Amino acid sequence: MNILVLGSGAREHAIAKALSESELADALFVAPGNGGTSAVAENIALDPEDAAAVLDFARNHNVGLVVIGPEAPLVAGVADELREAGIAVFGPDRGGAMLEGSKEFAKRFMEVNQIPTAAYAAFEALEPALAYIREQGAPIVVKADGLAAGKGVVVAETLEDAEEAVRACFNGAFGDAGAKVVIEECMRGPECSMLSFVTNGRSFPMAPSQDHKRAYDGDTGPNTGGMGVYSPVPIVTDDEMATMVDIMARAAAATGADGEAHDYRGTLYGGFMLTEDGPKIVEFNVRFGDPETQVVLPRLKSDLGHVMLAVAEGRADDIDLDWADDWAVGVVLAAEGYPGSYPKGDVILGIEEAEEMPGVTVYHAGTTHNADGELVTNGGRVLTVVGTGPSFEEARDLAYEACEKINFRGKQLRHDIGLKALRGRSSWE
Ligand code: AMP
Ligand code: GLY
Repeated sequence: MNILVLGSGAREHAIAKALSESELADALFVAPGNGGTSAVAENIALDPEDAAAVLDFARNHNVGLVVIGPEAPLVAGVADELREAGIAVFGPDRGGAMLEGSKEFAKRFMEVNQIPTAAYAAFEALEPALAYIREQGAPIVVKADGLAAGKGVVVAETLEDAEEAVRACFNGAFGDAGAKVVIEECMRGPECSMLSFVTNGRSFPMAPSQDHKRAYDGDTGPNTGGMGVYSPVPIVTDDEMATMVDIMARAAAATGADGEAHDYRGTLYGGFMLTEDGPKIVEFNVRFGDPETQVVLPRLKSDLGHVMLAVAEGRADDIDLDWADDWAVGVVLAAEGYPGSYPKGDVILGIEEAEEMPGVTVYHAGTTHNADGELVTNGGRVLTVVGTGPSFEEARDLAYEACEKINFRGKQLRHDIGLKALRGRSSWE
């Protein structure tokens, strides 16, 4: 079967690499892809949000399965158009994608289905929002309702900060995404994610993972798309794990019944906070996480092509996941200045040497080849360097050893990925 993956990050490189090893895959395409996906698939210059162009390509190249990586094409309804044309799609339709595309929709979904989450209220005008904040007091969380590329959330420690965040939203700081504002109770506790394959109202969870969102060591600096990750998460207790699995199952069941988020076929991402009252949902995403995918998929021993096609075709009974019981730690190498402005076009050296180390895989994000055929930087997050091993320490040491072998001008990385997990739960509180 010919397969098309939409997206250009390290997440899509991890998906494409696993699919390239699938017995199901004949031709494999990634659109638009990056400097790493071209080694495992054919890169296609297509805009993933242009449904007509994607459909055209799929028809002309006899594509039997389309895997949608990022949220934007899902929210834009690309899955709907492909499905209507009879092509199997891994990724929810527009209705399901509302779980990420509208925070208010997601909160209502959780309320109706009794999924534990922070208390909330939603507003479309400034004055009632300000009155609510003053009544609730700080700390309090202010979110733009729509997609804001991860920048629409302010955890406000003071009333002044909260009021400023609400004003910014209504003043258009996030465009249409901020026309509605969701205000939430501030939860406390360690965060982790659980990805789950969802189809036909059933959930097939993957191991928990944990992202590191801040740019610099010690969780300081600005928020980023994610600077490092590991899986599984040793601080999660058996009870918490059971609750998380149950929450994902209830969410999956509701995607079958709810009507608005119906017939969900893809990955559901549960972002959890492990509060004193048990795990609660911070947010749902409707796709694989980045960088979470880079440490979760390498541990999947089952054939990803078969799993994704079964999800896409609603054949829940055919899904059987087999996982390796090793550990994986991923460190993101970013360009100098990220998440602010950064240079492009710097030559990247040492990836082959790093990948010669058993247990090391390097996933590309912001990379491309220049006119001379050299691999160069082409984005803020450049690579995710993953080490896998029989213990957390070995996986982590391997990832960092591999990072040292890779060089480009201004290479930026965090040195403390996974340290908190190694130090145990008490270091979180
Ligand atoms: P998001 O962009 O929705 O992933 O939110 C970004 C970050 O804001 C999350 O990873 C949390 O650290 C934090 N956050 C979001 N909602 C809450 C909440 N209700 N209480 C505490 N922190 C939150
Ligand atoms: N790592 C967070 C996300 O993918 O949304």
